[in-house]
Amino acid sequence: MNKHFHLQQDKQGLAWLTFDSPDKAANVLTEEALEEFDTQLVAIAQTHPKGLVIQSGKEKGFIAGADVKAFSRIDSPGQAEQLILRVHDIFRRLEALSFPTVALIHGFCLGGGLELALACRYRIASTDPVTRLGFPEVRLGIFPGFGGSLRSIRLLGHMPAMELMLSGRNLVAKQAQRIGLVDHALPRRQLKNAARQLIHEAAPRKPPRLWHRLPGSAPLRPLAAALLRRQVRKQVREEHYPAPYTLIDHWRRNAGNAAGMYASEARRVPELLTGSTAQNLIRLFLLQDRLKSQAMDSDFHASHVHVIGGGVMGGDIAAWCVLRGLRVSLQDRGPEQLGRAIKRAHVLFQRKLRDRYRIQDAMDRLMPDHQGKGLNKADVVIEAIFEDLDAKQSLFADIEPRMKPDAILASNTSSIPLQQLAGVLANPRRLVGLHFFNPVAKMPLVEIVTTEDTPDELAASAGSFIRQIGKLPLPVRSHPGFLVNRVLMPYLMEAVILLNEGVPGVDIDRAARDFGMPMGPVELADTVGLDICLSVAEKLSGLLPGKVPENLRRLVEQKKLGRKSGQGFYAWHDNKPRKDKSVADRETLEQYKDRMIMRLINESVACLREGIVADADSLDAGIVFGTGFAPFRGGPLHHVQEEDPDKFFSKLQKLEYTYGERFAPDAGWDKLLTKP
Ligand code: NAI
Repeated sequence: MNKHFHLQQDKQGLAWLTFDSPDKAANVLTEEALEEFDTQLVAIAQTHPKGLVIQSGKEKGFIAGADVKAFSRIDSPGQAEQLILRVHDIFRRLEALSFPTVALIHGFCLGGGLELALACRYRIASTDPVTRLGFPEVRLGIFPGFGGSLRSIRLLGHMPAMELMLSGRNLVAKQAQRIGLVDHALPRRQLKNAARQLIHEAAPRKPPRLWHRLPGSAPLRPLAAALLRRQVRKQVREEHYPAPYTLIDHWRRNAGNAAGMYASEARRVPELLTGSTAQNLIRLFLLQDRLKSQAMDSDFHASHVHVIGGGVMGGDIAAWCVLRGLRVSLQDRGPEQLGRAIKRAHVLFQRKLRDRYRIQDAMDRLMPDHQGKGLNKADVVIEAIFEDLDAKQSLFADIEPRMKPDAILASNTSSIPLQQLAGVLANPRRLVGLHFFNPVAKMPLVEIVTTEDTPDELAASAGSFIRQIGKLPLPVRSHPGFLVNRVLMPYLMEAVILLNEGVPGVDIDRAARDFGMPMGPVELADTVGLDICLSVAEKLSGLLPGKVPENLRRLVEQKKLGRKSGQGFYAWHDNKPRKDKSVADRETLEQYKDRMIMRLINESVACLREGIVADADSLDAGIVFGTGFAPFRGGPLHHVQEEDPDKFFSKLQKLEYTYGERFAPDAGWDKLLTKP
């Protein structure tokens, strides 16, 4: 029974094998699909066609990769090794076919999908923007294990292949062609003819250029490996993310020896896969999928967005929506405020779109609109003016009657409860919060803020809109600080208290980075803006234990606001903080880290108990995607579970004893502890 693959022979004697898994948006290499693929290959070989073309039946994807869900269920290296050895056999069968084989790539061709394509003799990719090729494995804590580490090197040469695998970056067809990953990059309509042509010509493969082969030679390999390690070390640490380091070692030991490469893939990928970093990264990948699919219930689709307030956030939200293909009118108090936002949008379009015509097209979709003429046409209206209750309320009262009745009305407020904002509306139930994070273009998460009165349909439409613009929606309850700021603030405030005690910022930042935070809290506070930190801290001050630290207030009064004013906790030059070298010892750094991270974790426990988010998994996803919390730890609550909740609890008790009530364990710990 053929479920995933459909075979057709054409009049010219070519076999066309179409991968099209039923009821799935994307093709994935599940064990079932792989076995069927193997059976098909055996059958095709017996018919001796002139050539074989492998293509996808999906509109937007070739093969999305291996079955990541199944990875999360693998619990022993031996089990993973069996799977890998089996795939090695199947792909070797494909590679060994006596007739030419072509992968026709349109849409995503990632990870295991690219490894399958590499086992074909030729590859052709469409120049459509949906086509992307790459090895995202390192992002999941592993490296290509279906023969890809060997075949990519054979095809591209050592350094280009290693760079592709180590970076995890995706290439569009033209880039892939430039490095030799595909033979042709063509418009979609020309792919089939090009495949016929390639099979007809059956040109032999040329080896990669000499200078791409040289670094793999035995005398040069240790040097090249050291160079690669040095580059990787600038990005990630080995103790946090072992995969890129293991890949370099795997290559250093085995490059030049095909059997060794296969055997080492089958041994080392399973070791990584069953380790804690990979399992946690896979967990986050799946949680991300869960957040995305939550928003699938609604068919809401926006064409026109009206953003009010063209400052840091409103300007960037407008630009982002334009980038994702929407028409946007941007309103502010006058034309001069809008000028800055439009200029910033232009810079973003240049960076992301590159092509002159696409940039112009984007600029045409962004309409400066200080008179608010776009309001009555918009499907979504997003308010992003000053964080001031009165200002926001009078704006809402003014715009509500002029909006389309079924348009979404959203506020980007970071701390004002929806109930207060909505009080002035004729229909208070229509307001939702869409809380974006700064910088909008980089932060994937958007909190969808609702109250008990928010209609389910509206929450679903809001989630669907956030998916439409390519962000991750996280439903949260309207409560001061929502989830992310509420959890982040105690951590930041503890850093500010440490500064107040005279601890240098560099030591505090180093302690947090050693734990795995992408940026230290002192640098983060300066980057976000100390005025914004102060305003959020003040809004939360009734809720969180401890007072707002005086040093923060003082700096804001002195207009030392962080990066944007050139001086905050650090002095800033060329957008970089001036830091001395950290000299603190390990034990001291450990204490700083405990104080900051334990407050973050304790607040996470409180949010879970109060039902700010649906469950612990949503909380973990929100904190990782909203704050960058050490992804390899899988989220704050998962980190507690993985280590030992009792240990964390007693640590908190000790901190409370030493530093006072701001460390008092939340009542929610009762449910987490294993010992009563
Ligand atoms: P901002 O001060 O940079 O921009 C506010 C803009 O709103 C200004 O351009 C101002 O001229 C305009 N404005 C004020 N009243 C107006 C009115 N009645 N009609 C039209 N335009 C008006 O502020 P920012 O930082 O962009 O914050 C905006 C909102 O986003 C706030 O609610 C803030 O809490 C929230 N937010 C801010 C974040 C941040 O990191 N800055 C992060 C997440 C949310």
